[in-house]
Amino acid sequence: METVVSGIRSTGNLHLGNYFGAMKNFLRMQEENQCYFFIADYHSLTTHPKPQDLRQNVRQVLAEYLACGLDPEKCTLYVQSDVPEVAELYLLLNMHAYKGELERATTFKEKARKQPDNINAGLLTYPVLMAADILLHRASKVPVGKDQEQHLEMTRQFGNRFNRMYEVDYFPEPQAFNFGVQLVKVPGLDGSGKMGKSEGEGNAVFLFDTDEALKKKVMRAVSDAGPSEPNSQKPEAIQNLFTLMDLVSTKETLQFFDDAFNNCTIRYGDMKKQLAEDMIVFVSPIRSRITEILKDESLLTDVMKRGKEKAQASARKTVSEVREIMGIRY
Ligand code: TRP
Repeated sequence: METVVSGIRSTGNLHLGNYFGAMKNFLRMQEENQCYFFIADYHSLTTHPKPQDLRQNVRQVLAEYLACGLDPEKCTLYVQSDVPEVAELYLLLNMHAYKGELERATTFKEKARKQPDNINAGLLTYPVLMAADILLHRASKVPVGKDQEQHLEMTRQFGNRFNRMYEVDYFPEPQAFNFGVQLVKVPGLDGSGKMGKSEGEGNAVFLFDTDEALKKKVMRAVSDAGPSEPNSQKPEAIQNLFTLMDLVSTKETLQFFDDAFNNCTIRYGDMKKQLAEDMIVFVSPIRSRITEILKDESLLTDVMKRGKEKAQASARKTVSEVREIMGIRY
């Protein structure tokens, strides 16, 4: 069985795009692999979150992933800082990570541009911490998106460098992992591209949005004046509405609006109203589960405790072997 590691940003509240994308992947992986999923709270410290916000975010994200079906019986679900062994591995790996290569990371350059007053060492060594997360469990698979591929490449680089330096074959080379199946690409509401948090307020529908917020976002989704010729090709923004409808509405509803489009009688106001209603029906049971889990202090505490224990067992083993290999044994 292969070992999978993935980090979840602690501000990464789930939207429908994640739900049909990464989440579906996670649910399959937990059935078939040895999975370590963790909330990357150490990573989030580069931007200095307020302590009370950090706590709130970690609990919220944990509740959301549980509500979607991540099962602590099937995977190891933990909070990164509950396993401080990762910090030791990070320190050790830092000795073999070079300033030049760290400065060349696209994410570093971008963040440095965005927050010129806070270019801290944690930001520069972010990829080393990420490598430590992965190497800590000697994972061979990492489910990440395109934006993280460079970090994964750096992880391979650090692992291989360690192996070469100490003449061992200790760390496997982790590969990006997406099941080879085409994930459903969920479009956003802004008329182009995929649903994402960074694409601007209003583009993504979050599982935890209130009915009102959700409805408002959908009603403001980009559309146009409607087709003037029967059976025309759908412009991107309109196709996006149909793609979203296909995910949450019944076949009949979808067919109804498709016919209306084809005979030029479609009213996008009505379509969006229907889409919003169906999205609410779709997300509200998940939202109720999130709320219930958030109220259940002892459930969250238990999940974190179990995750910590399981992750720590694997982490301690790796760190003690790494110490041994490096000669930290006096
Ligand atoms: N950097 C990842 C992101 O921004 C999160 C992350 C941290 C991660 N550590 C990881 C992902 C380890 C995969 C493996 O999304």
